[in-house]
Amino acid sequence: MRTLLHIDASVRKATNPNPDHNSISKRIAMQFVDKWKSANSTDNYIYRDIGLNPPDFIDQDWIGAVFTPDDRKSFKQREKLALSDQLFSELSQADVILISSPMYNYGMPAPLKAWFDQVMRINKTFSFDLARGDHPIEPLLSGKTLILVTSCGEFGFGPGGEREHMNHLGPHIKTLGRYLGVESFHEITSEYQEFGDERHRQSVANALKNAGLLAGELANQE
Ligand SMILES: Cc1cc2nc3c(=O)[nH]c(=O)nc-3n(C[C@H](O)[C@H](O)[C@H](O)COP(=O)(O)O)c2cc1C
Repeated sequence: MRTLLHIDASVRKATNPNPDHNSISKRIAMQFVDKWKSANSTDNYIYRDIGLNPPDFIDQDWIGAVFTPDDRKSFKQREKLALSDQLFSELSQADVILISSPMYNYGMPAPLKAWFDQVMRINKTFSFDLARGDHPIEPLLSGKTLILVTSCGEFGFGPGGEREHMNHLGPHIKTLGRYLGVESFHEITSEYQEFGDERHRQSVANALKNAGLLAGELANQE
């Protein structure tokens, strides 16, 4: 039995009274989940909408608590890390991680960065050892698959595209994925939202198709 962890990061809801305001990235991610669930009816599913319920930003007390050995942590420090512990537990259970994210200001939205900051923990997601020389950080988790679903207003953010050099969303999350234990990375993108033209309709249709196909493919891997 596999566990799918699904994180939605758009601050827009999946459905709104005016459908023009619906989150595109959430819709594409839901297509993946629907296909995944129809092929894996007994699998575990963990869901968080961090766009609507953002994790707290980390602060100095949080860092202090993380670097205090477990047997010396105060009650207050344990409380401070409760959300991080919960998010880490959800991550560590996951075999497949589905993250849907809009592009905001050429990168990830603040709630998603807050989630990464909360979940990445020394001696939990990674170890740090200067005996490794100039590469002291090593992931402690392994074997996970990450599917990143993105929606952008502009276009050309993919390999060879005219805005590839401005894409700090997919490449950033791919880099971080290694420290979540990700060994297999897939990205499904939708572009042109701000143009609202045929290119946009085609891009969303392709993303929905690819999300369904990938879910079927991954579901049949075991
Ligand atoms: C605050 C904000 C910043 C944005 N910044 C960018 C950007 O840098 N590049 C881009 O292509 N689109 C940008 N957009 C457009 C969104 O990426 C686009 O509307 C996308 O569809 C949002 O995802 P969603 O439909 O899942 O909510 C921005 C939108 C907002 C609200």
